Amino acid sequence: MIADVVVDLQYGDCGKGKIAHALCRENKYTHVIRYNGGCNAGHTIYHNGKKFVTHHIPCGVFFGIKSIIGPGCVVHVDTFLEEIEALEAEGIPARKLVNVAGNAHLITDFHRIEDKKDEKIGTTKRGNGPAYRDKYARKGIRAVDDHRLLPFIIDMYSELYENEDYNNIEILFEGAQGFGLDVDWGDYPFVTSSHCTVGSAVLNGVPPKSIREVWGVAKIYETYVGAKDFEGPDEIFEEIRELGQEFGATTGRPRQINWLDFDMLKMAARINGVSKIVFNKMDILELVDSWCLYDGPSLYQFKTREDMEMWLSGKLHVEVDEDIEIMFSGDKEYI
Ligand code: IMP
Ligand code: MG
Repeated sequence: MIADVVVDLQYGDCGKGKIAHALCRENKYTHVIRYNGGCNAGHTIYHNGKKFVTHHIPCGVFFGIKSIIGPGCVVHVDTFLEEIEALEAEGIPARKLVNVAGNAHLITDFHRIEDKKDEKIGTTKRGNGPAYRDKYARKGIRAVDDHRLLPFIIDMYSELYENEDYNNIEILFEGAQGFGLDVDWGDYPFVTSSHCTVGSAVLNGVPPKSIREVWGVAKIYETYVGAKDFEGPDEIFEEIRELGQEFGATTGRPRQINWLDFDMLKMAARINGVSKIVFNKMDILELVDSWCLYDGPSLYQFKTREDMEMWLSGKLHVEVDEDIEIMFSGDKEYI
């Protein structure tokens, strides 16, 4: 069994969906598994030039690959079924490709009502926090217990380990949210309620030694949605927000913007053990032609894109790992 992992190094919305989609096109995966989160996530994917926004469903469906919502996820059944319908309506055969791990937990309507009361964190109000709370309080409801999900339910253990083709299993793990929102490593309490690091993929039932590549995904600037103050003082951020369409894919809220924070990126790259890093949205900074980042408290301003790329690559190679392959992307569909 072999697994690649796609993990977000910032606050979500770095383009994991795009990377996962591109990797599915290039590799022969047998499974794509979502390993954390619920319908708080919004993955924007361009497939053959057409835009799709998914919340629960992994991107394997676009390529005929078995796509599993793993045990670390929480599922809102109505949203899940609506998403299946919407994909089917676009000619994507989601119904026959998507499975839900029986031991994933449900987001109930009660969880949603509870989450709507949040004023402190700025959650997506999709019921995630209350669902995970009840899971860990051992009073949650599992996917296997919902009759509407029955046609989709699989047992993760038998799917992977009692599989005749065990030796040929190649998994792509697709994460949700990001390092800065991780319940342990993020800026608590301004975090989500699940684990957003590579460790979370392992928790979904594969041995650590099966992991081959860890694809860390970042943006060349940072965005965050939620209640804390995040946006920097630069007026250019207003322009970047419009050009980069930095509005939540799930809630439509404007994302707060700031320059890339190298220290956080370094921490996320180390803790996730990345072997690749993709910096997305280079095209947006090209448009404003402004190349800045924070190194500790200092704001660096580079003259050109090339200067910034060289500085970032050099420093990541020296301070994290010289073998990391670093890519800069400005395309919506391709790396
Ligand atoms: P929750 O996950 O809905 O509980 O929200 C907790 C925090 O995570 C809030 O700041 C949300 O805006 C943020 N968040 C949750 N999911 C995503 C996502 O997919 N992208 C970006 N931010 C997210
Ligand atoms: Mg998103």
